[in-house]
Amino acid sequence: MTKTWKTKLIHSDAKIPEGYKSLATPVYRGSTTLFPSVSAAHNTWDQWRVGYTYGLYGTPTSLELAARICELESGKYTILTPGGQNAISLINLALLNTGDHILVPSSVYFPNRKLASTLLTRFGITTTYYDPMIGAGISAFIQENTRLLWCESPGSITMEVQDIPALVAAAHAKNVRVVLDNTWSAGILLDAFAHGVDITMQALTKYIGGHSDLLLGSVTVLDDALYHRLGAAQQVLGAAVSPDDCSLALRGLQTLAVRLSAIESSALAIAKWLAARPEIELVLHPALHSCPGHEFWKRDFLGSSGVFSFVFEPGLSQQKVHTFVDALKLFRVGYSWGGVASLVLSYDINRIPGRPGYDHRIVRLNIGLESTEDLIADLDQALAVIQKLP
Ligand SMILES: Cc1ncc(COP(=O)(O)O)c(C=O)c1O
Repeated sequence: MTKTWKTKLIHSDAKIPEGYKSLATPVYRGSTTLFPSVSAAHNTWDQWRVGYTYGLYGTPTSLELAARICELESGKYTILTPGGQNAISLINLALLNTGDHILVPSSVYFPNRKLASTLLTRFGITTTYYDPMIGAGISAFIQENTRLLWCESPGSITMEVQDIPALVAAAHAKNVRVVLDNTWSAGILLDAFAHGVDITMQALTKYIGGHSDLLLGSVTVLDDALYHRLGAAQQVLGAAVSPDDCSLALRGLQTLAVRLSAIESSALAIAKWLAARPEIELVLHPALHSCPGHEFWKRDFLGSSGVFSFVFEPGLSQQKVHTFVDALKLFRVGYSWGGVASLVLSYDINRIPGRPGYDHRIVRLNIGLESTEDLIADLDQALAVIQKLP
């Protein structure tokens, strides 16, 4: 068939050499996936079972990332989402019905709590917030209609490390599934499935991406029935991942080991330095005794990552805390974490019910890959700034 140049723009006969091999996974961009014939066309979402049908359900780029996260977490199935918060909402929307009840730790990542208190409430799903240190005592909060026990360990900002095996045992005794937000450990430093967790999720945005330039999430399970509920829900929710972001995350994975190990030692050195400062009441780093649940971290985790908090001595005004944060030169002010740049934020924690009485004195750090000495010098000079204030 002869083609005009306009048709050649869409249906080209140009040829390139075959056989190129690269170390990098190609970025397959695509909404449409081609079928050999109309009778072969269908829109089944499970690309592992039926092959490729539609870009929303997976491309070789996104499925490779999913498979690699699954391998690292020792799961059976991983579904990618466009962000960590979307992984949280997918789990709830896929697995809950009107009339169900969930348990959420009071230390949970705030948008997780907000989902429960807004959208889930509107859909007739009730939530009880529990003390993250409750352990086996969670049994008393499990109701007839409780379906999910959410865990996040360590908790956001206040860093409580949870007794996951005790929570799992209590939940499973009453047929409740356990979900863990395992972002802090990059899905690696805590082997969630070995500790009995049923569903893990991560914000790949953090350590897997590792450079603060993408948003992705993952949900991983062992159970076939859970996978089918999650996959079917994701199809109709239509939350697609960007193949470009997946490609960046695949690149991020290759340096995860060296980044995590450098960040771990730097964060620990900085946490210990802060613990020795008279201005600081408490350092909330899971590897330090001062962190609630330190004993569970020691028992269950393979190491620590680079996010931790500290609490100024009582009496320091919020204004002075803000002055300290703003005086930092290397630590930048911003949300999210897990990248190579150190970050800082202070919080007024008592505005959230059920949180410890640290009020406005709590500051969270994300330690990046700058020199530890320079980061300590930065903290030192910012502490000196507030010391000089009346
Ligand atoms: C513990 C935790 N889980 C989930 C999320 C949400 O991830 P994302 O920003 O990719 O939506 C965050 C983000 O800060 C987080 O800190």
